[in-house]
Amino acid sequence: MKVLIVGGGGREHAIAVSLKKSKRVDKLYCVPGNAGIAQIAECEPSIGVMEFEKIVAYAKEKAVDLVFVAPDDPLVGGLVDELEAAGLRAFGPRKNAAILEGSKAFSKDLMKKYNIPTAAYETFDDPEKALAYLETADMPIVLKADGLALGKGVLICNTLEEAKAGVKEIMLDKHFGSAGNRMVIEEYMTGREVSVLSFVDGKTIKTMTSAQDHKRAKDGDQGLNTGGMGTFSPSPFYTKEVDEFCKKYIYQATVDAMAAEGREFKGVIFFGLMLTPNGPRVLEYNARFGDPEAQVVLCRMKNDIVDVIDACIDGTLDSIDLEFEDNAAVCVVLASDGYPVSYEKGYVIKGLERFEQEENYYCFHAGTRLTDEGIVTNGGRVLGITAKGKDLKEARANAYAATEWVTFDNKYMRNDIGKAIDEA
Ligand code: AMP
Ligand code: GLY
Repeated sequence: MKVLIVGGGGREHAIAVSLKKSKRVDKLYCVPGNAGIAQIAECEPSIGVMEFEKIVAYAKEKAVDLVFVAPDDPLVGGLVDELEAAGLRAFGPRKNAAILEGSKAFSKDLMKKYNIPTAAYETFDDPEKALAYLETADMPIVLKADGLALGKGVLICNTLEEAKAGVKEIMLDKHFGSAGNRMVIEEYMTGREVSVLSFVDGKTIKTMTSAQDHKRAKDGDQGLNTGGMGTFSPSPFYTKEVDEFCKKYIYQATVDAMAAEGREFKGVIFFGLMLTPNGPRVLEYNARFGDPEAQVVLCRMKNDIVDVIDACIDGTLDSIDLEFEDNAAVCVVLASDGYPVSYEKGYVIKGLERFEQEENYYCFHAGTRLTDEGIVTNGGRVLGITAKGKDLKEARANAYAATEWVTFDNKYMRNDIGKAIDEA
């Protein structure tokens, strides 16, 4: 079969590698793609992920059998609905279900209504009311812009002054654009964070192996929030007890709640969990694979991904046993120095060939571009160097060793991805 992937980052490269491995896939396409994806798929860099008409036309022209919509923006914007309306088969939630990620106020209200454990909160449309609420609230406190904000619309405020400034930033100065027309103010929680991704067919949910991201730009979780600087999988903190709790109170409850609301969810639900002293709580939902979570999770999945996708679309996921390798993986993001604020692009990347010869090592491209000079840097996050190992320590040593194989000007990475595993 022929499959079109929508997206062009490290996550989409990992998805492309999994699809390429499938016995059922003959040909891969990707819009817009990147230089790494282009090694295994035909890419069309001129089509952006929000150009729905062009994507539909391209999918029809190439007569693809399946379209995999990977990023949040087109999912929340309703690309799956458009593809289906054009008679194409698509993987991902429709617009009315992708709201699970698209509106934090929606997801918080859903959790409250269906008793799914999460932080206490209030929603505000009016900045004056938000400011008045803060006067009597406990600090620290968490402010969240309602809509999509490139993963950056969350402010953790330690003092009343900071919180007031945050309300101004989100609702009045509109730092996150229209995402800040509405705001959630939420209780501050403490604990370890774990990401659990799952496949969902509308009724049945099957969780994948756990992972942990590192969102801050600098070592020791310092610096600004980024899209993610590295991941490891599985998380040693995601114990059997935690899994049992989440199975009982969170996973199926979320899928059932969406169905009860007439918003049947088919696709991937990403549960951002915090393991608080009072038990696991949902920090956030995403309606898609995480980036760079996909890089460490998919490379450990034993199933043919097309079988799982089909089961999600056809509502037969109960017949699938998801299986993961009994090992570990670590992904270290190589970024351009200065990310996430400002950085230069266009530097030649050397040493990529080595990954073609080594099993259990992957170089997932995020921001790269093919030019006459070769493959050059083309974004903040450039590559996701990923390696497997028999356990987390070995995987981490392998991944960091492989970061040395690649060179480019202004190469930057965190040196402590997976350090938490030493405390496990
Ligand atoms: P989110 O985009 O909702 O996952 O938030 C981004 C990050 O902010 C999370 O990964 C947490 O580190 C932090 N965060 C979000 N909500 C809370 C909360 N209620 N308490 C403490 N930290 C939070
Ligand atoms: N790595 C976090 C995300 O994809 O949202």
